[in-house]
Amino acid sequence: MSDNQWNPALYQQKHSFVFEYGKDLLALLDARPGERILDVGCGTGQLTHSIAAVGANVVGMDVSPAMIETARRNFPELEFIVADASNFMLPEKFDAVFSNAALHWVTSAEAAVRCIHQALNPGGRFIAEFGGKGNVAGIALAIRQILQTRFAIETHHRWYFPAIGEYATLLEKHDFMVQQAHWYERPTKLEGEDGMRNWIIMFCAAMFQGLADDEQATALRCIEERLRTTHYRDGSWFADYTRLRVVAQRR
Ligand code: BEZ
Repeated sequence: MSDNQWNPALYQQKHSFVFEYGKDLLALLDARPGERILDVGCGTGQLTHSIAAVGANVVGMDVSPAMIETARRNFPELEFIVADASNFMLPEKFDAVFSNAALHWVTSAEAAVRCIHQALNPGGRFIAEFGGKGNVAGIALAIRQILQTRFAIETHHRWYFPAIGEYATLLEKHDFMVQQAHWYERPTKLEGEDGMRNWIIMFCAAMFQGLADDEQATALRCIEERLRTTHYRDGSWFADYTRLRVVAQRR
């Protein structure tokens, strides 16, 4: 398992559901021709491309140079930049900031909200969806328990999965009007018999640092066994996703 959690090839081949589900959110963004839109955490650029397709001027931004390199290769006509969602300042202002399945990686959530606020024109909108409270709780618990009991490794995930009240309050503190906030469960089908291990390899590699290759293989097998009764049904693996979706307007 590589400790580089951003493997663009694995992301595009096996985790395309991330941007497939994101298409729903595009309807809420309702981008118009000529609008300036910032796509925060654009990954390999598929949704950035959909936003551009309606005639909006879009900039895709991601903290991962590997993801941005792939996004540029996928869509050379579009603008992509490497920047951290919790520490950026761009010379231009935007009519909307869009973010799909990215902000749960940004543990400095307040700093990110500040940056997004300053990136928007007054009246600009913020449309985002990411992991909500309880997201992947079952998977995270299985990883933690197996690493603890089999390898005496204490590990905690470093994701940000807020409840509606917490995130809406944060947005209101920073001068946003929260127009919609919705938490919902979205069990997400993973691709193939190796779906769960591929998901863990893609997104949880950091938790396995310090284990030798054979130990990682054992850990993955034990985690799969542990999750099979709760996360495998009708021949498919499912991740226990919950989502937080927000629509807010900068005052
Ligand atoms: C998510 O989309 O909810 C997610 C993806 C990777 C790691 C954690 C959460």
